[in-house]
Amino acid sequence: MKLHPIWEDYPDLSSELEQVIQLIKRSIHMRNKEVEAVLTDMLESGGKMLRPAYTLLFSAFGTEHDPERARALAASIELLHAATLIHDDIIDDADTRRGKTTIQSKYGKDAAVYAGDYLFTVSFRLLAKQVQSDRQLDINTRGMERILMGELDQMHLYYHLDMTIRQYLTQISGKTAQLFALACYSGALEGGMTERKARHAYYIGSHIGMAFQILDDILDYTQNSESVGKPVLEDVRQGIYTAPLIFAMRKNRQQFEPLLSKRNKMTKDDVKMVQHLVNELGGVNEARSLAGKYTHKALKRIDQLPVSPEKQMIQSLTKQLLERKM
Ligand code: IPE
Ligand code: IPE
Ligand code: MG
Ligand code: MG
Repeated sequence: MKLHPIWEDYPDLSSELEQVIQLIKRSIHMRNKEVEAVLTDMLESGGKMLRPAYTLLFSAFGTEHDPERARALAASIELLHAATLIHDDIIDDADTRRGKTTIQSKYGKDAAVYAGDYLFTVSFRLLAKQVQSDRQLDINTRGMERILMGELDQMHLYYHLDMTIRQYLTQISGKTAQLFALACYSGALEGGMTERKARHAYYIGSHIGMAFQILDDILDYTQNSESVGKPVLEDVRQGIYTAPLIFAMRKNRQQFEPLLSKRNKMTKDDVKMVQHLVNELGGVNEARSLAGKYTHKALKRIDQLPVSPEKQMIQSLTKQLLERKM
């Protein structure tokens, strides 16, 4: 098993995360052993494990922290994430994820739908067994609802040339920031933080998630698929218009219209041209500065946490994410 290199500087957290992965593996039992093997393979393929890491870090603040329970919660969050990725790859028709062939491309979309659904149920099984209160179950299911709404918003706005930054932010707040917020919030509650402090953790996670998705959308325009382990430059052909493009279109919309209006008929060269324009018109830079603003907001709130090794790790990890290239 290989943990993502991001964790090299965090030895204690690394071993916790490895235990989370083991717990996930132990929780998966399918009659179809072939699909089971692909699932466990995906879960061991060096995903960044960011959301469970934040859950574990925030769980350390309270006085009621129970490491085993925190790991179960972290596993549940990662499973929720993995399920949405498997389904996202079906929708995007993606061939690779975490540097490996996707379930949908190897076994077909039907198998991938079931595999994703299965992970949702495992996620809730782990959650139901460990949560202390109905409140936490309620929060987690409601978080899931918001993620789905974000995905539906995105679908509703496919190929929308008038897409505004505001609409984009609403969308990513649902599809990505919610899960980061949930990861931090449920970790905080697990450790026994007060509701008020847990809500503070929720906002930290939400800001981190916003910055994270904007960065992911930037990588789509700046990296190659080998380095990110998943397809790049696909969003635009599929009608998903993200921050770098929206900013660039504000500078010069005419240049984009003839290209984007070809929709999914865009050629490789058309897409390359869009990429070039987005970079040239400063869309990438402007998006980077927006991500920086969210990271800054998160850091300001993180500052208010009590002094501890976990606080330091949350700080450095959050800064590190702004510089990532994968
Ligand atoms: C991918 O998330 C989906 C987004 C919200 C951008 P990650 O980049 O955290 O995916 P893994 O878990 O590391 O593969
Ligand atoms: C997916 O966002 C976010 C989810 C909540 C599933 P993206 O479509 O940007 O994720 P990648 O780029 O495929 O990982
Ligand atoms: Mg995708
Ligand atoms: Mg993406």
